[in-house]
Amino acid sequence: MSKKNSSKEKKPGALLSPKGMRDILHEDFLSYQGFFEKAAEIALYYGFKPIETPILEKEGVFTSGVGLETDIVGKEMYSFSTKGKDRLALRPEGTAGIMRAYLEHGMHSLPQPVMLYYYGPFFRHEKPQKGRAREFFQFGFETIGAAEPIIDALTIKLTHLILEEVGIKNLTILINSIGDSRCRPNYIRELTAYYRKHINKICAHCRMRLKKNPLRLLDCKEAACKELAEKSPDIMGFLCEDCREHFKEVLEYLEIMQIPYFLKHTLVRGIDYYTRTVFEVVSEQEESSAENTKENTETKNTETKPSRESKEKTSAEPMLSLGGGGRYDHLARALGSRRDIPAVGSAIGVDRVLSAPGYSMPRPRIVKKPKIYFIQIGTGAKLKSFTVIEALRKVRIPLMHSINKDKLSVQLGIAERIGIPYIIILGQKEANENAVIVRNMKTRSQETVPIDKLGDYLKKHV
Ligand code: HAM
Repeated sequence: MSKKNSSKEKKPGALLSPKGMRDILHEDFLSYQGFFEKAAEIALYYGFKPIETPILEKEGVFTSGVGLETDIVGKEMYSFSTKGKDRLALRPEGTAGIMRAYLEHGMHSLPQPVMLYYYGPFFRHEKPQKGRAREFFQFGFETIGAAEPIIDALTIKLTHLILEEVGIKNLTILINSIGDSRCRPNYIRELTAYYRKHINKICAHCRMRLKKNPLRLLDCKEAACKELAEKSPDIMGFLCEDCREHFKEVLEYLEIMQIPYFLKHTLVRGIDYYTRTVFEVVSEQEESSAENTKENTETKNTETKPSRESKEKTSAEPMLSLGGGGRYDHLARALGSRRDIPAVGSAIGVDRVLSAPGYSMPRPRIVKKPKIYFIQIGTGAKLKSFTVIEALRKVRIPLMHSINKDKLSVQLGIAERIGIPYIIILGQKEANENAVIVRNMKTRSQETVPIDKLGDYLKKHV
């Protein structure tokens, strides 16, 4: 329910939820739960285990891990001082906190890699608009302690699979390699020289970025900067042998799995911890997607060329990513580890997925939709209400009720309004006999059933 059409009982000046944050109600709640359950189930089959980290972290986890110069930390992070003068922040993303937990709990001594999945709310002080909220939900997973390209491929596969399994069509992976600490500096020099030549054409923000973090220029959404980014030097020509080989293998796995992808040399992602593979998942228009699949089948089993000519994404696509991730081999060191720990992960933007065309809500297991409405009439029956509810809970049959109401007509009215298929009626006579009436609302047929047989009866008939 939007704030606009919410209750007339609201006085002017009444308190509302914070801007960009919302209550998740009714069917929406089930939709989120259903998605989380489905995604968790798939992640478990792929070898991931659950983890939950605090929603608040020390600010340093993000300033050191994600990077002070990134938008999500530099501009959008909710950070504050506590009464004890600690600097804390609401987590803007999950990866840095998971790596902090891995290091804090000595998970390097477990068999490697450690594979973890998580979900929950994340916070970024962005301008609220379609697909962008200040509180949003992610389902993410991280594999820590593995350097091999097959793990990058597994991460992409799982992201793709989860989205496919909930009905999202025409998925495409946008992918790039941003090299590592050995080869990226050469590329950065070339990129800086390129942008210096066009310094008069770039926006004021990008002029600042050029000094502090030139890679970020490729991310800029300003039209003139975007045009320059398209023509900017391609990092593929600057990758060292190891990074090139790594990327080539990742692409080979994608082709074998027939996962459609486009190389996008301007894809750098807005987070500093990435090395080598970075990717995003988008849901494309039907026509271009058909083209991708064909293209992909054609190149299947042929030598993978991580070069711009092979499959470059050039169309203007202001599409919102449904998920994204990449490799982050230096994050552990940025958070205080003595050595680098190779890792790769991904996060799906759940709010965006739920409103994406094609999303088909997996019914959550934990919240069964009740098919039965329980009506009680008279004091003796009211007193026995809990016996009936408890008898059904024990056999895992949920019901709805209004045990605070007295009148039969009121309770029946509610049952009719919600369109429930069955009602259970407990009147004075039934209460005395330890029985209830079970009525099929469609056929209007009804039967008296002893409370101790009710579970079995309902399992058979409802
Ligand atoms: P990210 O790309 O910043 O990556 O976020 C992942 C997904 O979260 C996005 O693709 C998008 O669907 C969703 N998202 C981000 N911001 C918002 C927003 N303001 N409103 C709604 N949805 C949003 C990360 O967070 C990385 N931690 C992913 C990762 C995991 N990398 C390695 N491991």
